[in-house]
Amino acid sequence: MESETTIEIEVHLDADAAATMRSDVRRGLLAAPKELSPKYFYDERGSQLFEQITELEEYYPTRTEREILAERSREIVAAAGCPATLVELGSGSAAKTRHLLSAMEAVGCLRTYVPVDISEEITHSTAACLVEEYPGLAIQGLVCDFERDLERIPADLEPRLIAFLGGTVGNLYPDQRRDFLARLAALMESGDRLLLGTDLVKERDRLELAYDDPAGVTAEFNKNVLTVLNRELGANFDPDLFAHVARYDSGEARMDIRLRSLAEQTVSLDVLDLEVEFAAGEEMRTEISAKFTRDRLEAVYAEAGLELRGWFTDAAGDYALSLVSLPGS
Ligand SMILES: C[S@@+](CC[C@H](N)C(=O)[O-])C[C@H]1O[C@@H](n2cnc3c(N)ncnc32)[C@H](O)[C@@H]1O
Repeated sequence: MESETTIEIEVHLDADAAATMRSDVRRGLLAAPKELSPKYFYDERGSQLFEQITELEEYYPTRTEREILAERSREIVAAAGCPATLVELGSGSAAKTRHLLSAMEAVGCLRTYVPVDISEEITHSTAACLVEEYPGLAIQGLVCDFERDLERIPADLEPRLIAFLGGTVGNLYPDQRRDFLARLAALMESGDRLLLGTDLVKERDRLELAYDDPAGVTAEFNKNVLTVLNRELGANFDPDLFAHVARYDSGEARMDIRLRSLAEQTVSLDVLDLEVEFAAGEEMRTEISAKFTRDRLEAVYAEAGLELRGWFTDAAGDYALSLVSLPGS
């Protein structure tokens, strides 16, 4: 790379983001059944716990996605038209992203990496590591909620490969997913490509074990949302009074992650001026993780105005990376 190494990170976690959190949490806790958005798992501790999850033997998605990227990144980059820019939504530690960056570097097309993540700490530390590893790389990071701020992704850096890895798209409900993908399609130019990582449908036992490891790391990650609410919203959740629940809903083809109240209890959230009652045994959903088939994904893309152009899976067919574009481009 001939260009100069630079790091620019814009932070958009402003008063609006705090207001969004307050209204999301209020709406979720007053809903029946109660529900919290998974984006609130990810403070610094939440990001660390997620990294630990990705290293668990039971949690096959990260390992499998990494294997596909390790083996096929050159092919993916070539199929994507050797883009100069890699945008990554929910970039986290960008651990697997190195395979794509290295493949782009190897063919000489890599110029800019745009990490987009809600966690400020991890975005800064990832950027600092990457400029060491890829001299000449320009980093133009965005710390924001990608659901709210998608349109902030720099438009002047095409052709772009926009990666959305880790199965994060599976955390969206079908209507949210359709709207989100349609917004992405509206931002894409004909040379841009989207690379989406999705977990595939498989046996219940493997799925449930992946989200409920015996060492309890996933349980701690799930309960971290309560700690975030305690700190950000002056709440008094006692994480020990909630149990982690991970069930596969085969009808909806998704993991359903919840926290079950172990007692009848009242929780107050001072910042919201709200008191919430939990019955003993009441469950509050904290995340879904949808599982897909190729046919279903083709329908999901078509509904959002996109087209499947490439399909990369592991030998066992556990996980897939889809390369997607605007139709006919
Ligand atoms: C499931 S992790 C995936 C991390 C990494 N891409 C991987 O594949 O291992 C989700 C990542 O998305 C980020 N994230 C979750 N919701 C987000 C949102 N609404 N806006 C921006 N980032 C978000 C989290 O901070 C976390 O780094």
